[in-house]
Amino acid sequence: MNLFTLPHFPIKNKTIFLRVDFNVPLQERKITDTTKIKATLPTIKCLLQQKCKIVLATHLGQPRGKVVPELQVEPLVQELKRLLPKQKIIPLEDCIGSEIRNQIVNGKPQQIFFLENLRFYPQEENNNPIFAHALGSLADIYINDAFGVAHRKHASIDAITHFLPSGAGFLLEKEIKYLSQALHPKRPAIWIMGGAKLHKIGLIKQALKKADYILIGGALAFAFLKAQNIPVGLSKIDADSIHQARTILHTSASKKIILPLDFVVAEKFSSTAKTAIVPYDTIQPNQLALDLGPQTIKLYQHYLRKAHTIVWNGPLGYFEWAKFATATKEIGRFIGKLTATTIVGGGETADAIIKFHLQHELTHLSTGGGAAMEFLSGQELPGIIALEKNYTKFKKKMQILN
Ligand code: 3PG
Repeated sequence: MNLFTLPHFPIKNKTIFLRVDFNVPLQERKITDTTKIKATLPTIKCLLQQKCKIVLATHLGQPRGKVVPELQVEPLVQELKRLLPKQKIIPLEDCIGSEIRNQIVNGKPQQIFFLENLRFYPQEENNNPIFAHALGSLADIYINDAFGVAHRKHASIDAITHFLPSGAGFLLEKEIKYLSQALHPKRPAIWIMGGAKLHKIGLIKQALKKADYILIGGALAFAFLKAQNIPVGLSKIDADSIHQARTILHTSASKKIILPLDFVVAEKFSSTAKTAIVPYDTIQPNQLALDLGPQTIKLYQHYLRKAHTIVWNGPLGYFEWAKFATATKEIGRFIGKLTATTIVGGGETADAIIKFHLQHELTHLSTGGGAAMEFLSGQELPGIIALEKNYTKFKKKMQILN
């Protein structure tokens, strides 16, 4: 992949437009997980060391092109101030316009200008070139450190790169490096696939190509059982997923798919429900399976022990409730102790890993949910394509500058 990274640019004393993905979960305006913000600190610190002015830009939530007070970036500004207490961080009331530009132009090196939510403008999601030009006019160089939103062809991700020399920050670089390792793995490679639905069909097809074995958990397992006419009681299924599972089971690669031996079941969907452990083919009509059972955990550990590369996408049970968190927690702990390269796709899996404090035991925990899934499915992400095109366009100019 040919794209500029920070060391390519003469960034000293420059004004840098830094696109980050600070789209963090909020409860009553309080941030409940700061991982995405912390993950961009290496880039921010490098720019500060080089005496750059930073124009920091993010989206937050889905305001759909309108100013939504609950989605203003204020809590993000406060969190960044907490993480960088010595830095001058200046929240701006908007993200484009002459007033904003003047404040930045009159600012000093090492100041961080925090723009208001980009998605308050519909032009952001429409990839509008005029809006992108207005954003680009605030800085000399564009750095994308927003892996979580690299799958969106938005103005601050794509169109802005038409106007500025553009490159990847350290987080984006790291995401590309490790997720690429998942696609070019050291064998044996094992993918663990859980989560709710087989809408991950692209991802499963990719796993069938790249992995030696695919260990199935979560609601995906029920689709594979139902596809073989094994009853799954009240467990979560949908017709499309069953159809997809059936198609996969008819391919020769299906021998790579390893299904659960047993489940933890309950008679109602409740955190306090009475539970039982049953073999995979004896789920009763009044039961629903909410986690993998102990035999399955053992079986999956047996496979994982031999792996050189492990890729994990999707929780194995309803980990939000302690009674059904065992498989996700145990498998997480187990792979954390292995010497294999362990790469975990973001979204719900990342939530589980963070909940069980396992993030430091893994080689790479992606900050992208949808973006990681699309990357692992083998799709090219618009944010990365934009940087590759920019590299081709500015390569000669940069060689002269260097
Ligand atoms: C995410 O949280 O997955 C990213 O920030 C992308 O957000 P979006 O799905 O609202 O585009």
